[in-house]
Amino acid sequence: MTPLPVAELHVHVEGTLEADLLVALARRNDVALPTYDAAALTERYRHFTNLQSFLDVYYANLAVLREPTDFYDLMAAYLRRAEAAGVRRAEVFFDPQTHLNNGIGFEAVIEGFAAAVADAPISADLILCFLRDLGPEAAEETLRAALKFREHFIGVGLDSAEVGHPPRMFKRVYEIASGEGLRKVAHAGEEAGPDYVWEALDVLGVERIDHGVRSLADPELVARLRADRVPLTVCPLSNLCLKGVGSLAEHPLKAMLDAGLLVTVNSDDPAYFGGHVDDNFAAVRAALALTDEDVRQLALNSFEASFASREDKDRWR
Ligand code: ADE
Ligand code: ZN
Repeated sequence: MTPLPVAELHVHVEGTLEADLLVALARRNDVALPTYDAAALTERYRHFTNLQSFLDVYYANLAVLREPTDFYDLMAAYLRRAEAAGVRRAEVFFDPQTHLNNGIGFEAVIEGFAAAVADAPISADLILCFLRDLGPEAAEETLRAALKFREHFIGVGLDSAEVGHPPRMFKRVYEIASGEGLRKVAHAGEEAGPDYVWEALDVLGVERIDHGVRSLADPELVARLRADRVPLTVCPLSNLCLKGVGSLAEHPLKAMLDAGLLVTVNSDDPAYFGGHVDDNFAAVRAALALTDEDVRQLALNSFEASFASREDKDRWR
């Protein structure tokens, strides 16, 4: 069956590092892993208790990425898999601070990723994410270093440990990004409450909210998101694995759709959460009894919410 054409707007390329590639890169670069058994590594991913328990594994695994070709191979593997999943357009997050902290130069990271994007079988662009737990000064320093490679990314985002690192801390770095003509998104309302979503909108001026699943707790926020048609990039299997919801049947996606919100379905970190965007669609369709019309709406929303040109969006959907 041909997959549903979609745009994927919330995927961390580092979270697409499958255990097989992890082991191959560890061997290639002589980096120690707790085990070289890919199945055993994947099995560990089934036992996250919250966002931080995932982030600890995710950051540790990234030590295997050393050379520009490693970054190229990681991105190229995601883009091939995304094409098979029906993705026509991908706006892909990357976390440069992790690699810089591992002693890798900015150039190796961005040139590896950008070369794979240039060779991609689908339309793709990069969004640079700041690690919020490293604070606003580190974010600003990262953006200034990244501006030498300005042509290789279209926007900025905010990720990593959410609670205790509210969006308002990053006001200045988002202002600098705006001044450079960069698009703006941020993770908010994944584990923290609706106040983080308000701040991302009102203080940072973001154009999309990543996750935002906690927004329904605040009816005024729901009204605002609906009125301004703010896209929410929802990642159901991620929310399930990180215990944001007890089961997919309890996931708020359908309620968000029924509330008239511009929700989209995405994979977040597919190597860790049990599936790519097509798997996320299949899982929510079954668990939430989505109609064909719901699914069509979610796919249309993904193109609507993308940063591609109007002309491209109309061609893809
Ligand atoms: N980095 C990678 N995946 C993430 C997520 N789900 N939330 C916050 N930061 C992340
Ligand atoms: Zn994410």
